[in-house]
Amino acid sequence: MSASPLSVLAPESLTTDPNWWRQAAVYQIYPRSFYDANADGLGDIKGITAKVPYLLGLGLDAVWLSPFYPSELADGGYDVADYRNVDPRLGTLADFDEMATAIHDAGMKLIVDIVPNHSSDQHEWFQEALAAEKGSAARDRYIFREGQGANGELPPSDWGSVFGGPAWTQVPDGQWYLHLFASEQPDFNWDNREVRDDFLKTLRFWSDRGVDGFRIDVAHALTKDLSEPLPSQAQIRELEKLNNGSNPLWDRDEVHEIYAEWRTLFNEYTPPRTAVAEAWVDQSRRARYASTKGLGQAFNFDLLMADFDSGSFASIVTKNLAESAATGASSTWVFSNHDVVRHATRYGLPAIAADGKDGVGKSQDGKDWILAGGDETVLDRARGLRRARAATLFMLALPGSAYLYQGEELGLHEVADIADADRQDPAFFRNTGIEKGRDGCRVPLPWTAADTSFGFGDAAAHLPQPGWFADVAVSEQDTDPASTLNLYRNTLALRRQLQTTEELTWVPTTNPEVLHFVRPNGWTVVTNFGTNAIELPAGTVVLSSVPLVDGALPAEATAWLM
Ligand code: NOJ
Repeated sequence: MSASPLSVLAPESLTTDPNWWRQAAVYQIYPRSFYDANADGLGDIKGITAKVPYLLGLGLDAVWLSPFYPSELADGGYDVADYRNVDPRLGTLADFDEMATAIHDAGMKLIVDIVPNHSSDQHEWFQEALAAEKGSAARDRYIFREGQGANGELPPSDWGSVFGGPAWTQVPDGQWYLHLFASEQPDFNWDNREVRDDFLKTLRFWSDRGVDGFRIDVAHALTKDLSEPLPSQAQIRELEKLNNGSNPLWDRDEVHEIYAEWRTLFNEYTPPRTAVAEAWVDQSRRARYASTKGLGQAFNFDLLMADFDSGSFASIVTKNLAESAATGASSTWVFSNHDVVRHATRYGLPAIAADGKDGVGKSQDGKDWILAGGDETVLDRARGLRRARAATLFMLALPGSAYLYQGEELGLHEVADIADADRQDPAFFRNTGIEKGRDGCRVPLPWTAADTSFGFGDAAAHLPQPGWFADVAVSEQDTDPASTLNLYRNTLALRRQLQTTEELTWVPTTNPEVLHFVRPNGWTVVTNFGTNAIELPAGTVVLSSVPLVDGALPAEATAWLM
């Protein structure tokens, strides 16, 4: 493992290749927590531009920005007040153009987040709707209904929002509006042509500015069947199990008409603009989102939800590669993002026993551990990181594209000890005592060990950073050949050499805790999920998630061989 990246420039072909996205390594930036260039405690666009050399050094193909649009931050920016602008606290459109140029000059692509299911309640259309009369054209852009009860004092249905609490909020003239998320996030009415046209305008606006692709927020929620009588929450839960498009709120077949229209727009550009759906749907329904006649790609969260387990990993990969081959889509892989407990932490927690009572960990999502105050006595930090490094090397060797989340290249753990007073996530406020929320994976990055806010900026960070960030800061890892940062750099550089085709061949193993596969040109990948060291097959080891011991691959580790 050497300290410097093996290659720093993305290949020239990335610029013009219409298929650049199929096997891209994409890095998610949560802009308000990445790097603060103007000392206000909030990360910004100029901060991203300043760190382009860092991104380039990681060996990425593309960068995806979570929302940077004007927002009152009721949901970390996923409450957009103006889809065609930059939050003034984060910069200007000119700053955005400068950043896009810097990213492109470095040979990387740029993906931005589009949030089409709902706007912010501060969006001019929602403000107009509030000021307008019942039944007006302004109200028809959102979902307003009369309430139940003698005077309409009860919500139109008993639906709960994803973040807890009711999904309906009443306005002064008595009507109620639907919000599947926070009350500051009113849902759009996608039956309204004006809404559809406005999103086409937004997609064109950013495409014309050189944006290469889009990440589509809750892509499975846009179209709804709101014919009366509205079903109850319990009925919806039953319909959800059918996975046949009959759920009135989620994953309806009509949503794909919208994406077909978007695809026509994407294909007007050279290379065509790309899109990836965030759609938490059953695996059997995912291909629809990833269709080349629609968005082209859909996040596959199967590995993210799985335990660190050879059987689960093997069946997920096999199933998803078969599905991609059948549909022509490319697979996507992801372990961490801004909505889930970081994978180094998930893998370091004890699983809850079948009776659900044993301990406060839950390796699958880690949320119980956060709720229990992040009890350090049950988190095995070293083991979590060891498994995360092994899992990441496994994932980065798979065909398809890989989505990485800022900070995972530092091996960051979840920050659990955030005081309630400092929390920002609406899931915490709407669900007190049941959820602590997602702030722990959104704490601003540590760039240096000693400076104000660990080098995030010259002011205190908008979410408090823990003392242990000093040990994992970029400055501490940069020249350490054994650091997680350099493991990511070296792996991403080598990955370019094995992404020439999308084939993967499993090699049978006698040990059920070992997975072994071969990629084009003889690249061989072995992951040991077990707790004993194993012998490696013949070949030259070019990379390993931990150092080999007497030529053997230690427990919970991955090696790449040539
Ligand atoms: C999914 C986003 O990833 C999440 O952060 C957000 O809260 C919801 N969609 C609502 O926009």
